[in-house]
Amino acid sequence: MIIHDEQNRLFTLRTRNTVYQMKVDCYKVLLHTYYGSYIESGDLSRLIRCADYSFSPNPNEAGMDRTYSLDVMPQEYSTCGVGDFRLPSIELELPNGSRSADLRYLGYDLQKGKYTLPGLPAFYGTEEEAETLVIHMEDAAAGVAVELYFGVFEELDLITRAVKVVNKGNEPVRLCRCASLCLDFLRCDMDFITFNGHHLMERCLERGPLRSGIQSVGSIRGASSHQHNPFVMLCDRNTDEDTGLCYGAMLLYSGNFEAAVECSQYESSRLVMGIHPSHFCWTLAHGEAFTSPEAALVCSSEGFGQMSRQFHRSIIKHLLREPYAHKRKPVLINNWEATYFDFTTDKLVDIAKEAAKMGMELFVMDDGWFGSRNDDNSGLGDWWVNEEKLPGGLEKLVSRINDAGMVFGIWVEPEMVNENSNLYREHPDWVLRIPGRNPARGRGQLVLDFSRKEIRDYIYGQLQAVFSSVPIAYIKWDMNRSLTDVWSAALPAQRQGEVYHRYVLGVYDLLERIRRDYPQILIEGCCGGGGRFDGGMLYYTPQIWCSDDSDAIDRLRIQYGTSFCYPPCTMGAHVSAVPNEQNGRITPLKTRGIVAMSGAFGYEMDLGKCTEEEKDEIRRQVECYKEHYELICRGDYYRLSNPFGEDLFTAWEHVAEDKREALVSAVAGSRRPASPFVRLRLKGLSPSLEYCINGEEEVYSGSTLMHAGYLLPAIKEDYQSIQLYLKAK
Ligand code: GLA
Repeated sequence: MIIHDEQNRLFTLRTRNTVYQMKVDCYKVLLHTYYGSYIESGDLSRLIRCADYSFSPNPNEAGMDRTYSLDVMPQEYSTCGVGDFRLPSIELELPNGSRSADLRYLGYDLQKGKYTLPGLPAFYGTEEEAETLVIHMEDAAAGVAVELYFGVFEELDLITRAVKVVNKGNEPVRLCRCASLCLDFLRCDMDFITFNGHHLMERCLERGPLRSGIQSVGSIRGASSHQHNPFVMLCDRNTDEDTGLCYGAMLLYSGNFEAAVECSQYESSRLVMGIHPSHFCWTLAHGEAFTSPEAALVCSSEGFGQMSRQFHRSIIKHLLREPYAHKRKPVLINNWEATYFDFTTDKLVDIAKEAAKMGMELFVMDDGWFGSRNDDNSGLGDWWVNEEKLPGGLEKLVSRINDAGMVFGIWVEPEMVNENSNLYREHPDWVLRIPGRNPARGRGQLVLDFSRKEIRDYIYGQLQAVFSSVPIAYIKWDMNRSLTDVWSAALPAQRQGEVYHRYVLGVYDLLERIRRDYPQILIEGCCGGGGRFDGGMLYYTPQIWCSDDSDAIDRLRIQYGTSFCYPPCTMGAHVSAVPNEQNGRITPLKTRGIVAMSGAFGYEMDLGKCTEEEKDEIRRQVECYKEHYELICRGDYYRLSNPFGEDLFTAWEHVAEDKREALVSAVAGSRRPASPFVRLRLKGLSPSLEYCINGEEEVYSGSTLMHAGYLLPAIKEDYQSIQLYLKAK
């Protein structure tokens, strides 16, 4: 609920469990007065102490009052160059070369339903589900209007933010920074949590106390990156899974980003999140507008678990789009780790036939099917089938796959080109490159300038020919390098700071066109695994290949970190062969199944090489996933242990909304001598319900399972696992 208190000039956003408040002060500065657990609010600006702080300047209109300074007041959207020395949210460069921004309140609008952001991903909600507040600000001297957007999803404790900047003056203005979110706190005694890593080990949780100065994570790789994720948290020092206050902040953006926290002199702190200001500068001619990507916040006073579940529910109900919002996604088999580039039609059909016998439903042909693509040095950009490899083309292959009882999916990497391709030979000027420099290669490939519509149109034409030639149920959209040499031949010198963002907008545009023209196709995002796993991509690709590391034990950590913001149904996860291709580890097939089925489930191996016993196990796994699909993909997710802290067991749990069913999974680490027995304490059950486990006679009350626990069997081998299906009597 959004409440405007005219008399006290307060805006209060109330959700089920939280309150967020802003106040227009006597100088029309928009103060941020509170965000946290639900309170019967009142005017919370009384918590702000005004004093004469030396070296903290006073705005001109304060006259000789030295007790008011922008440098210490908590701001809703921080400015720069006019008295606040902390992290700015906006920077304007005027034609006279000055850099500053000073925003004052003008008015507001309230709307039922959630605002939309044309060309950008955003949470969506009907008039019954969400409300919108737009606060109008202006920088009168610069002739710039700024609209602050707030979306409120009351039941989900979700507050979204976005910013629109409009140049109302006659001269062009350069926008050198435009954050999506600024969040000020009158305290510094918090921990900052980020999700970091590298290719093959993404989103590892790191937690540390705020200290004086600025701490930040971000990406200037053109994609949100394997290295840092555009989701961060702030929390009380003692917050854990189930208790304590925490804030999660998510940026729905797939390009360069920065999430920075500053802990400043008088024990206040500020989180600023948005497009990375490095390499960003957007020229606004008279009347032009710039809209920031969306950011989203959830605050929980019941620990990380509750925060994650609110993000999960929000993403599932208000970010992911059709198809499969209301029906089960097919279990897939992908040929990449089984064949790499070395396949024939017969080989693919054999894999598909085996998969169909085990209950799988979607066959995905990965990289290597097009142009001269027999290795990863050539062919990208030539999106027509290689008939030498696949005689009879896709028609022949797909009809045989369909005859085997499977639908068909295909891999593409539309943003890229190899120099050894017809596309590059014909259009060498279509790649990102700085005049006078030879561009850096990544995986032997260059990047197409997706900021240019004519290039996207050409690629779309190529893809359309493929997608319209045979029935396609699924696309894997890959992106296998970081951006370098970012310069576009289509823009003048002073607009080159727009290219990174225009590139991302170009990717979104093409994805949206495909969604519009082929609404029945499921698109899985991929970027060398999880290099672009973010809320922006999820709006177009409701699942994302979580990591190129398919080892079940490494995946425990990767999926654990990913789950803090993103729901299990979004995490592409496959059972692959052992020894594992990435790290050589041997894990039981059962464990590989249990780990992968806690995501968007599939297989990626040569099923023809499996023993009969293994095939039976796979058949059981596929059945199990189908049976528990609703629970896994729509249920509430509980982390029962932390694989970064304890490797005796990693456990997690999916609980049905009505609490009458749950699926518990636990995977052991490597064996230790005299390992202690584990009494796993479950979560989220109804204390008064009686549950039976795996269909056995004995019943346990929810309270017993949650407080006394369940005794796991002894570990006999490394990486053994167990799955418990709980059903209320
Ligand atoms: C990336 C993907 C893999 C596979 C290869 C194909 O690395 O993450 O899953 O599709 O590309 O080249």
